[in-house]
Amino acid sequence: MAGAAIAQRGVFGGEAPETRNETRKENGMATSLLTTVENRSSVDTLAEAVHRPVQAVLQKRPELRTTLDGTWLGHPLHAALTDFPIGAWATGLVLDIAGLGRRKKGLHDAAFTAHAFGLAAAGAAALAGLADWSYLDGKPRRVGFVHAALNTVAASLFGVSLLLRKNGRRGTGIAASTAGFGIVLGSAWLGGVMSYHYGIGVSHRAFEQGGPSGFVPVLRNDELVEGQLRRVVAEGAPILLARANGRVHAIGDTCTHLGCSLSAGRLDGERVVCACHGSQFRLRDGRVMVGPATDSEPHYETRVRDGQIEVRKSGLNGAS
Ligand code: FES
Repeated sequence: MAGAAIAQRGVFGGEAPETRNETRKENGMATSLLTTVENRSSVDTLAEAVHRPVQAVLQKRPELRTTLDGTWLGHPLHAALTDFPIGAWATGLVLDIAGLGRRKKGLHDAAFTAHAFGLAAAGAAALAGLADWSYLDGKPRRVGFVHAALNTVAASLFGVSLLLRKNGRRGTGIAASTAGFGIVLGSAWLGGVMSYHYGIGVSHRAFEQGGPSGFVPVLRNDELVEGQLRRVVAEGAPILLARANGRVHAIGDTCTHLGCSLSAGRLDGERVVCACHGSQFRLRDGRVMVGPATDSEPHYETRVRDGQIEVRKSGLNGAS
């Protein structure tokens, strides 16, 4: 498969790096269908029609964006919410099977409630998923669009199923919800591709080195002026150096959201703002203050010795 770029240009227009996982072996019908979706530029026309209004709404409502991103939770909200509809619909399916050929009103009512709960929960999961998707471009955006379209079809089938059950056509209602559940399973596989192949929702510093445990020199002190951001590497760890209000700060340089270099961003007081999608990290401890990032940066202690800025990991906020 050809290389795939993630989020080349997002809500705030920065450049995100290419995904690390550039190749995937064609090993079955599913991956072959996936490759077709990834390479089908015609999907972009439809995706763009949804992408633009979603971006416009989220740009106007930053508090909504931060809520849907899951920054407050320290975890992508979409991934947490998807368990509810899938769990409820699976429960409804089991109850439907248990009630087949039996006149057990309690079982039928319980199945109805499970499917209805699943439908309501799917709405919340979809909103959070749209927020995640709004930062994407290229192949991940196409795959995410198809993932969302399949979920919409499945949710419609569950809605039809509820109406049919309400009107006494329980058998047809069960057929509709069972078809919907099959589509949900296929769509969930695409959701897995988004996370495990493209790394959407995964902290992009997850596989980086922790950095030096003892002080090491990384830059001449006079090469970092007030208000400047510099990227250095110490023992394999990309580190952002910043001088703000006369103090030298050091935190991880790889934005945990989608991997942009924070050194390409800008300072806002004692925070660094990522150039790609606007995540903000506090310099004094690396904590994420504004999303879409949900994971904080490792923090490093700094000192100046013999005209050199030296850093070592501080052990705070998960730095290791
Ligand atoms: S890469 Fe998206 S906010 Fe930094």
